[in-house]
Amino acid sequence: MAAVEVSGGKQVAGVGAKLADPVVVQVNGADGNALPGALVSLRGDGLALNPTQALSDSSGQLSVSVQLGGNAGGYELVADTPKQGGGIATLSIREIALGYREKVGKEVSYKYCGACHDPESTPERVSNLDNLTPPLPHPLTDGNTLNPMSDADLVKIIADGGSALGKSPQTPGYRSTLTQAQIKVWCNTYERSPIRPTKHLLASTDSGRYICLACQRPLE
Ligand code: HEC
Repeated sequence: MAAVEVSGGKQVAGVGAKLADPVVVQVNGADGNALPGALVSLRGDGLALNPTQALSDSSGQLSVSVQLGGNAGGYELVADTPKQGGGIATLSIREIALGYREKVGKEVSYKYCGACHDPESTPERVSNLDNLTPPLPHPLTDGNTLNPMSDADLVKIIADGGSALGKSPQTPGYRSTLTQAQIKVWCNTYERSPIRPTKHLLASTDSGRYICLACQRPLE
């Protein structure tokens, strides 16, 4: 018998915010099939959960709405369900709360940069990457490309566009759209990490800990 995550893990939202999607958990019996009527208890330090206890529905699932706590960083939602033969099956799901700096960085990147820098389209935003002529932009989570660039060069390319650095003029300048503070926040937010071999971009939280924006996990 086991509880498994169906959806809703690794969501990112501002501190104190409710996650956009519920967390959906499914209980499977010893035979591997979905188990209706199983009791599931939910807990998580700093999280407000609704419900905190429920029976799985006819498809073996239950849905929990999650509100993040007031501190930036990682949160862990734990779902416990008693096993038929005794003992407890435990499932752990991670969620992330962004503080002010990371939030501005993420919003800027999503609103202004994602159309060209993110190869994936979403219902709200169509990726324009396929329409660009090379050299193509890299995902803004690609540490191998961004880590070697200095903060000054990052500010320059964001404020004045690609041609300021002898790069493709297809990257627009944002000096008139973003304030200098927003550009700085973006740069500070996407901190470089000397400690991760994968060099994913990290955001430092208000409490000074780091979150990997690619893996959406806090660094231990
Ligand atoms: C209209 C498409 C477009 C948009 C929108 C855009 N960029 Fe770019 N960006 C590019 C292209 C094309 C390059 C590649 C330039 C080159 O290598 O010559 C690039 C390169 C960059 C680079 C250098 C690293 C890399 O990926 O090669 C950074 C940093 C960058 N952009 C930041 C941003 C930020 C931050 C935003 C949003 C505020 C943004 N860009 C929005 C097209 C875009």
